[in-house]
Amino acid sequence: MIYAANFKTNHTRTSTHAYIQELQSQLHQKKSEDSVYIFPPLTALDHYEAADFTIGVQNAYPVLNGAYTGEVGLEQLQEFNIKTILIGHSERRNIIGESQETIAKKFRFFKEQGFEIIYCIGEALEVREAGDEAVMAQLISQFDGIDTNYEKLIIAYEPIWAIGTGRSATVAEIESTHNALRKTIHKPILYGGSVKGENIAEIAAIENVDGVLVGGASLKPETFLELVLH
Ligand code: PGA
Repeated sequence: MIYAANFKTNHTRTSTHAYIQELQSQLHQKKSEDSVYIFPPLTALDHYEAADFTIGVQNAYPVLNGAYTGEVGLEQLQEFNIKTILIGHSERRNIIGESQETIAKKFRFFKEQGFEIIYCIGEALEVREAGDEAVMAQLISQFDGIDTNYEKLIIAYEPIWAIGTGRSATVAEIESTHNALRKTIHKPILYGGSVKGENIAEIAAIENVDGVLVGGASLKPETFLELVLH
């Protein structure tokens, strides 16, 4: 299983240091086949001694460096040896307004740089209510311009209506969506959306769920560890 913690716009450099220290002191208990990823805010990047986990970024701009006011490029990531990135998160699509074209451009750039990419897809509530066919059509459209055969690709399926709402998708919904995705995607597929201590066991047990991407329940080391060590 893959356990990925997405801090979003939470935590500072100081609190991320404390978090990582706490996490590191407990991670020897995890199963050796499991992997853990932490996505802190960009200001918290540092020279961490990440022995049992990988630090990635939630976002970056697809350039080495240059005149892109307010953005962080490859050069700034290389300083901290970052080689993992989240691309396509629904908050970036819907709140920041990233188009599929922008996302595909980012994907191509970081693929060329050999980054490990956690690529997020997910449907809106009205699409889920329209039925399975509509859901798959929306998910497939989010693969436009994306090389789904990229060797360092991990997919994260995150229904938008389940993110940060406390209402996870049901086991049946997760199972049918992951099974449908598995027909065309031969990469690990994570589920994300209100994953927490109470539902990790049933979600992790679903066939074709290869891991979880966690927001709210990842913010405290103890609640994230509850998932990793369940
Ligand atoms: P959540 O967020 O766990 O708070 O629902 C998941 C995500 O957006 O990755």
